[in-house]
Amino acid sequence: MLKPNFKEAKKRNKEDIKILRNEYHVPKEAKNMGLNKRYFVKTYGCQMNEHDSEMISAILEDMGYSKANDYNDADLIILNTCAIRENAHNKTFGMLGRIKHLKQTKKDLLVGLAGCMSQEESVVDEIISKYKWMDFVFGTHNIHKLPEILKEHMRTKKLEVNVWSNEGNVIEGIPSKRDSKYKAWVNIMYGCDKFCTYCIVPYTRGKQRSRLPLDIIEEVKKLKLEGYKEVTLLGQNVNAYGKDFKDMDYKMENLLEDVAKTGIDRVRFVTSHPWDFTDSMIDVIAKYDNICNYIHLPVQSGSSRILKLMGRRYTKESYIELYNKIRNKVKNCSITTDIIVGFPGETKEDFEETLSLARECKFDSAFTFIYSPREGTPAAKMKDDVSLEEKEQRLHELNEVINKYALEANEKLVGQVVPVLIEGESQKDNSMVAGYTDTMKLVNVKADKSSIGKIINVKITDAKTWSLDGEIDG
Ligand code: 5AD
Ligand code: SF4
Repeated sequence: MLKPNFKEAKKRNKEDIKILRNEYHVPKEAKNMGLNKRYFVKTYGCQMNEHDSEMISAILEDMGYSKANDYNDADLIILNTCAIRENAHNKTFGMLGRIKHLKQTKKDLLVGLAGCMSQEESVVDEIISKYKWMDFVFGTHNIHKLPEILKEHMRTKKLEVNVWSNEGNVIEGIPSKRDSKYKAWVNIMYGCDKFCTYCIVPYTRGKQRSRLPLDIIEEVKKLKLEGYKEVTLLGQNVNAYGKDFKDMDYKMENLLEDVAKTGIDRVRFVTSHPWDFTDSMIDVIAKYDNICNYIHLPVQSGSSRILKLMGRRYTKESYIELYNKIRNKVKNCSITTDIIVGFPGETKEDFEETLSLARECKFDSAFTFIYSPREGTPAAKMKDDVSLEEKEQRLHELNEVINKYALEANEKLVGQVVPVLIEGESQKDNSMVAGYTDTMKLVNVKADKSSIGKIINVKITDAKTWSLDGEIDG
């Protein structure tokens, strides 16, 4: 049994990062384990987790499993979890409750926990003491070991816990079964060294490790050949890409430029930290048409005092300066953000600063959250004397401001013709199709299904807060 350890996970050793290319293989005994059996992977949380689930699926298919569309029909269920806020935890434990019932009638069902919650000591202790009926737990650093973990469980028939805490390597060569045929996630880096005081990610995802540029560019070229139209470069803090290279001066702006030069139709990247956002990055985004005019730039708070407590390393003023620089240099750029309300000690005045920043920036949209204490992070020990009721009121007030500007930004597009990558049927009306603009706005389009997978010109006819309506132009 290898349990997670936060003390280890917090360490940032100076050892070189190794690129390991031959770590993934399926042992003979595990090769046919999944024959005539079906798997179901339930994903919680961010895009990084979605992509990890694509890898987990491909590994299971290498073991002979095929995909089930419903967890009730599966022989093996993996919950790929998120630890960012308390409600993510609650959702996972709720799901485990439902699966426990299923397991009572289906004795051979295998159930495993993966993802960020697996990296938390308290979660794994709870699984070991109260969820003995589960079969295996693995973490974010050893997805490629899944066949071996399942093989070991097959041998012992006991709860197999195998979580690594201080991983410092990059594993290449893990297969991926992508959910979409048109847009693909591409990891460019793992982990985060920023240690914002509220955030669990540096503990659950480990130290920052960048993939080599050549590996990333090869992956994008291959995706283009396979017909993919869009790639999203993924990392917790993509602007810090390359800062961990010891013998190479190659940063995010170089990578963006080289990926753009592959000629793939669309290049996106998430998530950016304002601290590492350089002028040369902005210039590259402005220069290449295939780098999408869309930047997700989490601000977290509009109060410089709170930003300092959060360990964000910028002020309200310097954020707004960067924001305006991007708006001026990258024409028609849409900018979205993340905001936390109710950080420990946030006063009415601090919150007013956040509202004033939201009014000044007029974001295209924002994800807003109530602060959730995460065990083991510095903010969890800070005095928090604002009531939940007050926090909910602040969230509501902030959302009203955010929604007003989101609608205004969308209304400006009515009458314009914009390219949309059509991804599939519209969820609101199955006689329509839907997709995203390069500025990341969802558009429901009156067009037939043959447009799926293509980038088509759409005339915007109506705007709502969260989406647009349109019709084929011409
Ligand atoms: N409580 C609330 N929101 C959080 N986020 C990260 N940690 C917490 C927390 N402890 C938010 C941040 C981040 C987004 C992914 O989740 O806004 O940008
Ligand atoms: Fe968390 Fe992002 Fe801060 Fe890293 S940069 S600690 S992932 S909020």
